[in-house]
Amino acid sequence: MTTLALADTDPAELPVDAIVVGVYSDADPAAAPLLAQGAEGVDAAFDGKLAATLALLGATGAVGEVTKLASLGATTAPVVAAVGLGTAGPAPAETLRRAAGSAVRALTGTAKVALALPGLSGEDGGLRAVAEGALLGAYRFAGYKSKPAPKAPVSTVTVLVTDAADKEAKAEIKRAAVIADAVTLCRDFVNTAPNELRPPSFADLASAAAKKAGLEVEVLDEKALRKGGYGGILAVGDGSEAKPRLVRITYKHKSAKKKVALVGKGITFDTGGVSIKPAAGMWEMKSDMGGAAAVIAAMIAIAALKPKVDVVAYAPMAENMPSGTAYRPGDIVTMYGGTKVEVLNTDAEGRMILGDAIARACEDEPNYLLETSTLTGGQVVSLGKRVHGLMGDAELCARVQAAGDRVGEQGWTMPLPDDIKKNMESDIADILQVSAGMDRGGHMLQGGIFLSAFVTEGVEFAHIDVAGPSYHSGEPYGYIAKGGTGVPVRTLIEAVEDIARNG
Ligand code: BES
Ligand code: ZN
Ligand code: ZN
Repeated sequence: MTTLALADTDPAELPVDAIVVGVYSDADPAAAPLLAQGAEGVDAAFDGKLAATLALLGATGAVGEVTKLASLGATTAPVVAAVGLGTAGPAPAETLRRAAGSAVRALTGTAKVALALPGLSGEDGGLRAVAEGALLGAYRFAGYKSKPAPKAPVSTVTVLVTDAADKEAKAEIKRAAVIADAVTLCRDFVNTAPNELRPPSFADLASAAAKKAGLEVEVLDEKALRKGGYGGILAVGDGSEAKPRLVRITYKHKSAKKKVALVGKGITFDTGGVSIKPAAGMWEMKSDMGGAAAVIAAMIAIAALKPKVDVVAYAPMAENMPSGTAYRPGDIVTMYGGTKVEVLNTDAEGRMILGDAIARACEDEPNYLLETSTLTGGQVVSLGKRVHGLMGDAELCARVQAAGDRVGEQGWTMPLPDDIKKNMESDIADILQVSAGMDRGGHMLQGGIFLSAFVTEGVEFAHIDVAGPSYHSGEPYGYIAKGGTGVPVRTLIEAVEDIARNG
């Protein structure tokens, strides 16, 4: 675990192993990068030659670029690292977050790191962003290797600020730690091997974490689900020997004026079921519980941040397997609340477990319902790997999108068109699970339309499809490592806090 500290002394004299400064790219690409505010002390220790030296080493100031140099006694720290901040000017929060993440990642194997970056007076969110980026950049999944990795992540990050005794600055780093802990928990759940995390053990771990945070937890097992009429969760869950669960976590505040429900998809592994997926890439379907992991993690942060709002979270959990007890295309499933669904493809299992959970969550009479899931490949096709899809009530979608922008998790609002709704009418049941004939048009939107059908009148609804953004299979960048990204934990926390403040 990486810890954060504040300092307001000369960075050149800090007893750390590496000191990080910021550099901007000059408009003239042939010129040396420009030193950002915060680098003065280190530059003085280098007799004003820091920018020229960095230029010799090829530094350009591009966002996230890290250039390391040996200080040879000029500073107490033996290593100085310059991280790129892009074009000169006040760096946006997300640029600072990524830069801090890149720097801390590049310094893996270094124990103590100090960050002397610009704009860290504590008032404009810059400090929060740097602290968050540093902690998230230091994340490493423990994994299953017999021998530990030779280089350990950075253990202490000291952030240089104008006043280290400032209460607000202290509160900002405390908050960053709470948020980073939540993202870490979500990433760990997603990165855990699917044989190690099946619905019963996932429910146990979620329950233990929530109880430790002082939250109220209720877990419905397969018997309770059958008794309660949770037909969607059971249809999917019955295909596996590891039986399904529905986890409910409650947070209450005595001065709450609004109630928010969070719902997250918890498919611990998605083979597609009888409508089986191709083998290539199927291993990534261990991440199909990223939505559930995100709402559980967000609840734990909420318990620590104590916003003035009531929050109830639902995480339906099932393993989608082909077997003699699996559901099949053509089945009619009676969902929680009675809606009858005509199944066309067992690989559209997320909406089956979520329909139940949404209907159940609406009985708690929330003002807002935020649901998140790795629901469709269509999300990745239309918005790519780094932008999530938002669907539902326009006003709430706009708020969630704005919350995402503030924390560096980009989303885009998509429509729920009437013609697609029409295509999802069933001849023999209340609704088709997907468009008639499995028409691929508006694939992501079909998911949003289906889920909306389970939302009670009067509940404001937003569906967040994170199929792409919740998992990163490429090389690490910024504060994102390979594997689970923790998206949309920070958006959920930010949106809940926004509702607590503004109703
Ligand atoms: N879990 C998948 C969606 C997914 C795809 C998540 C890629 C992450 C990355 C979901 O259950 C699924 O299989 N959806 C199908 C639905 C289809 C059969 C109607 C899809 O999107 O192809
Ligand atoms: Zn599926
Ligand atoms: Zn799935």
